[in-house]
Amino acid sequence: MKSNNKILVKLGERSYPILIGTKLIGKLDQILNNFIGFTKVVIVSDQIVSKFHLNDLCKSFSKKNVQFKKIILPNGEKVKSFFFLEKLLEKILALNIDRNTLLICLGGGAIGDLVGLCSSLLLRGVKLVQIPTSLLSQVDSSVGGKTAINSKYGKNLLGTFKQPIAVIISVDTLNTLDLRQIKSGYAEILKYSIIEDKSFFLWLKSNGKKVISLNYDSCIYAIKKSCSIKAKIVSNDEKEKGIREILNFGHTFGHAIESITNYSKKINHGEAIYLGMFLALKFSNYLGLCSKNLTNEFVLHMEALELSYKISDYKIGITAEKFLKHLKFDKKIISNKLKFILLKDFGNPTSYILEDEKILLKFLKKELN
Ligand code: GLY
Repeated sequence: MKSNNKILVKLGERSYPILIGTKLIGKLDQILNNFIGFTKVVIVSDQIVSKFHLNDLCKSFSKKNVQFKKIILPNGEKVKSFFFLEKLLEKILALNIDRNTLLICLGGGAIGDLVGLCSSLLLRGVKLVQIPTSLLSQVDSSVGGKTAINSKYGKNLLGTFKQPIAVIISVDTLNTLDLRQIKSGYAEILKYSIIEDKSFFLWLKSNGKKVISLNYDSCIYAIKKSCSIKAKIVSNDEKEKGIREILNFGHTFGHAIESITNYSKKINHGEAIYLGMFLALKFSNYLGLCSKNLTNEFVLHMEALELSYKISDYKIGITAEKFLKHLKFDKKIISNKLKFILLKDFGNPTSYILEDEKILLKFLKKELN
């Protein structure tokens, strides 16, 4: 492993590496050669991902004579529920674990959030390694320690902060994803460039197509850059008391769209974030925070990569009033006031607290009705 493909999330004694490369799953024994210290390893994966990658992972354990158990769950967002939380916790406890047990999550963002939560609850905390296999989880959810399940009141409302001890990103796992999933993950990569690094945005303008068509070198570069940005932000503000909130750029509008469509397959997370970033840019311009140029640059990039970013690209009927209602389900609302991450310029986000709902309603009416 090239040392420059290693990023450190600096959190004192809870610091951990993110390793990025190809064919890493079969080399896990070499990567984590301190396995010996664990009494037991429990691997949790889903029915789809396990078919492609579990064998490689198991082979690498067999080489080391490590005792390991496998638990396979269904695929998708439904595992982020009380039902599967209880089921998984009981299954793991039935394996007679102790505090020296290592949990490994092999899969995408949904199962990663669930296993993360389990790792913080079991015996008040066991160690966790994340092996994210979707682009979205590689650049976002596996890094930074947010864990969650959903409640009937909303997405990710129940969770903890629990950092893994390592994140292993093997870009070859992306080969089994469809184009829609790749494009969904790309939304978060683009977000990092917009909020933090104009030169990365310019790089994406020239190389985004290569990322989406899974050129490994371009993927590794984009994932590394995204993870470095996230690692730096998380190291400064692990519990989202301040700067970490900039990672929510596009997410306030985006989450409302996901809520309106009932988290259905009509629109996935990344697609909602493209819509959300487009609206956040337009709202920033509407409020006079930034020039129209930023939206134009964003739109040019969307068009070049054939990404859908307008509400009219999707068959969802939204009125301004309905949008506002769903915006208010956001968990980041404080004292009944909505908060948006808006943009002054590329790399210069700003937090905006909405004092007067009428301003937003007027903007939404202009954009939607
Ligand atoms: N997904 C945003 C964060 O981890 O803070």
